[in-house]
Order: sequence, then C-alpha cells, then structure tokens
Amino acid sequence: MSTHFKYKAFLVREVDGSFVGNVEEVEFAELKDEDVLVKVEYSSLNYKDALSAIGNKGVTRNYPHVPGIDATGVVAKSKSSLFHVGDPVIVTSYQLGMNHPGGFAEYIQVPGAWVVPLPGGLTAIEAMIHGTAGFTAALSVYRLLKNGQTPEMGPVVVTGALGGVGSIACRILKKLNFEVIAASSEGMTEDEMNSLGASSQVNKETTDDQSGRPMLKTLWGGAIDVVGGNTLTTLLKGCSPMGNVASCGNIGSGDLSMTVYPFILKGVSLLGVDSQNCPMPLRQEIWNLLACEWKIDFSEQLIHETDLEGLDGYIQLMLTKKSRGRVVVKLC
Ligand SMILES: NC(=O)c1ccc[n+]([C@@H]2O[C@H](COP(=O)([O-])OP(=O)(O)OC[C@H]3O[C@@H](n4cnc5c(N)ncnc54)[C@H](OP(=O)(O)O)[C@@H]3O)[C@@H](O)[C@H]2O)c1
Repeated sequence: MSTHFKYKAFLVREVDGSFVGNVEEVEFAELKDEDVLVKVEYSSLNYKDALSAIGNKGVTRNYPHVPGIDATGVVAKSKSSLFHVGDPVIVTSYQLGMNHPGGFAEYIQVPGAWVVPLPGGLTAIEAMIHGTAGFTAALSVYRLLKNGQTPEMGPVVVTGALGGVGSIACRILKKLNFEVIAASSEGMTEDEMNSLGASSQVNKETTDDQSGRPMLKTLWGGAIDVVGGNTLTTLLKGCSPMGNVASCGNIGSGDLSMTVYPFILKGVSLLGVDSQNCPMPLRQEIWNLLACEWKIDFSEQLIHETDLEGLDGYIQLMLTKKSRGRVVVKLC
C-alpha cells in the first residue's frame, strides 16, 4: 500500500475552539508490525462517537481525529499472523475511534489483537446493527445470567429502552424468555413497546424515585441501566431479593448515592459492564451468542442507514438525546 494512498473519512477538526466534522480525504500511513488494514463495509453510531465528534477530551484527547468505535469489513492487508487478506472481521472497543482513528472511514488500521473474526451467523451489517451498543447489551444480559438471574425472579427493567443499548437488551431478554419492562423518560407508543418485545413500560416517575426511602417494595426482578445517578439507585432499591442490576451507562449521571441496605438486607447485586476492556475470549463468546442462540430480528423502524455525508445529522440527534434505535454507517 502506497504511503500516498488516500481514503475518505469523517474527520473532526478543532477550529477556533469549536469542533467541526467533515468528510475529507485522509492519507494512509505505513502498516505497522502486527497490524491489519481493514476495508470497512459498515460502522455504527454510538453515544461515545457523538462525544468524540464534539471534542470531549474524556473520549478523545487529540484532534484532528476520525471517530467511530465500531467497524466491520474485510482484511485488505495483514502483518498479523492471526488474520489474512479476505477475512471478514469485526473491530470494536480498545482505542478504536477514541484515541486511534476510527470506523467512520473507508479503511482502519488496527492491531490484530483488537480484531474478532466475523461469526458465521452474522452479516457485516447485522454486526454493526449491534455494534458496541449491542455488544454491551449482550454483555449486560450475560452478567445477569452468570449471577443467577432467571425469568422466574420477575421482569427485568431496561432503562433508555429506545436507545442503542436499551433496545437491543430488551430484545435479547425477550428472546431468553424474560418478561421485559421498557423504561423511557418520556414514555413510548404501544408500537414502539411491542417492537422491543416489552410487555409494559414505565417512565421517570417510577425509575427516578424521590421518596428518600432506603428501599422500595419489589418492583422488578432485575435491571439493566444506561442512565446512572438516581435512576440506578432506584433500580437497586426496587429490585427483588437476590436480583441483579447491571450498570452499563452514565447518560444521566456518573454519580451513585445510596445506602447499602438493598445489598445487605435483600442480597441485591450491582454488576459492572465494561465493553471496552472485555477480554478477547469473552468478547468472542459474546459475538458468537449474538450470531446464534441470541440472534434477534430487528424491526426496520429502529434502524437507520446513512453514509459519511449524512452522519453529522444523526450525531446532532444523539447529542440532543433524541436518538431512537441504531444508526449504521455504510462505507462501501
Ligand atoms: N459500559 C460500556 O461498555 C458501554 C458501552 C456502550 C454504551 N455505554 C453507555 O450507555 C449509555 C447509552 O448508550 P446508547 O448508545 O444506548 O445511547 P443512545 O442510543 O443515545 O440511547 C440512550 C437512551 O437513554 C435515554 N436517556 C437519555 N438521556 C437520559 C437522561 N438524562 N435520563 C434518562 N434517560 C435518558 C434516552 O431515551 P429516553 O429519553 O426515552 O429515556 C435514549 O434513547 C451511554 O451512557 C453510553 O456511554 C456504555
């Protein structure tokens, strides 16, 4: 590959203190040892990408930068013994799209150690409909199951249920025979609720308890939370004895303030979910589950496809917290 080879990417530049993203031609660098070059077919939009696109230094330290924490495609060149030209692959997490040029581009160059073979049961676009959001949803469900959550313990409530992580978590739980309660701050239509596989919905009044009581009556058997703060506290306070609450997001707040009573009087467990540093064997296991036993059908109304040129509109929608479902980015 020539060092003067150029490809298209959504490049975010800092201009007079503001961050502006545009589709530009980017020059490709020499492939490093142990790296692979992937011709990207699809990427997807996650909340972290939206933060990276507006200069959030907690996500991306240096600009100009290409966001995109997810990519699927085909190996175009390899200096890694793990992968060969033509292999279909998934790349998510690690520093991709954060402090390493990401998937909003026709090509990515990444260490072979970051790369997962695309499982047989998933197409490139299906893998990106999941993306990091779907992977995180699956990892959250996995953590609940490993800690003993069963459908008999009662319904599982999922916050941000119309968002990327939440919408996929609802569908996986439904597939695994859990009753699902969809939580959304402003409520949802009957059609939206049905498309998630949820049997009921709750809004902020239920998931943002203001009573000040250290524990609530049992409201759900377990929970998956993307919001954090008082929402996470409420989910823990209302959880059934021995139930589990997976915390995977902080879209509302990074704080957690509560008593220990749900833990020491009801045996409730708080489980952390970190997709970024998930060890490779577990990462592969989760992708294989998504491709086979946990494979879900997506309702088309919650999937939006865009090219690089249309990406900025979806980023703005996500930043105003109006996202619905998943956005996939088609690169070729
Ligand atoms: N731990 C990990 O490895 C990991 C991986 C991926 C994502 N995440 C985190 O998970 C969270 C969700 O990501 P996502 O990709 O699903 O985002 P998303 O697609 O933007 O969806 C978030 C949903 O949360 C709800 N929401 C937004 N602001 C809220 C608020 N202040 N209070 C309550 N609900 C609010 C919104 O629905 P309603 O307005 O209808 O409630 C929205 O649909 C983010 O914090 C993200 O950083 C973590």
